[in-house]
Amino acid sequence: MNQVIETILDHRSIRKFKDIPLTEDQISTIIEASQQASTSSYMMAYSIIGVTEQHKKEALAEVSGQNYVKDNGHLLVFCADFHRVTIKASDEEYEDMLPNIENSEHFLVSAIDAALAAQNAALAAESMGLGICYIGSLRNNIEKVDQVLSLPKHVIPLFGLVIGTPDHRPDRKPRLPKEAVYFENEYKSYEEPLETFNSTIAAYYLNRGSNNRTDSWTDQMLRRFTHPMRMDVTEFVQRKGFNKR
Ligand SMILES: Cc1cc2nc3c(=O)[nH]c(=O)nc-3n(C[C@H](O)[C@H](O)[C@H](O)COP(=O)(O)O)c2cc1C
Repeated sequence: MNQVIETILDHRSIRKFKDIPLTEDQISTIIEASQQASTSSYMMAYSIIGVTEQHKKEALAEVSGQNYVKDNGHLLVFCADFHRVTIKASDEEYEDMLPNIENSEHFLVSAIDAALAAQNAALAAESMGLGICYIGSLRNNIEKVDQVLSLPKHVIPLFGLVIGTPDHRPDRKPRLPKEAVYFENEYKSYEEPLETFNSTIAAYYLNRGSNNRTDSWTDQMLRRFTHPMRMDVTEFVQRKGFNKR
């Protein structure tokens, strides 16, 4: 097994960091790695905001309800961005671009581009011995995050990525069996691998080092999808000029 695969397979989310800020060199390397990700039609339809002002980190920690969003080595917020592509457009060209920029296709493009860039950043950080956690809970109050980061029209915050020197080493979290996610030639709706996985994850939740509980993956998903969540995101996203048609 090579070192890249070892790093990938050793991933676990880190939620407690030592009080050691990332160096400028570390940040530059991580951002360069992030930018080297493949990008749809060379659009590079994302921006990355590094949050260094403590009051802004605190505001974002409050939105996410998680302390390590302010207590870490560095905090990045990945944004979908189609503002950049309009900067050089004339008023007439801008009007022509709008139906295209604001469609579902380009909403997907920007989210995919940002996610690929973020995962490169995550892997680069982990390869340097740092730990990471993605922060989707910034969307608990997406409007507030938008204001804190002064994002223009056609730029929306998607998720955060906290990076730092790990101050704990949680157990590696099991993943679905391969048969549940990898199919050849056509989709298969199997129940059996999910049953197997429920036993695996139940044992993990019962025996892990902290936050033990009795649970299964399918119960977790039922709870998640029977409780409407962040229903304001649709209206926000459309108001900012994404996914309107
Ligand atoms: C886009 C995204 C958003 C996430 N948001 C959060 C979050 O807000 N809070 C959190 O504690 N973990 C968050 N996570 C981490 C997941 O909970 C974690 O990756 C998953 O449970 C698997 O655990 P592992 O990363 O330790 O293997 C997020 C992960 C992704 C990919």
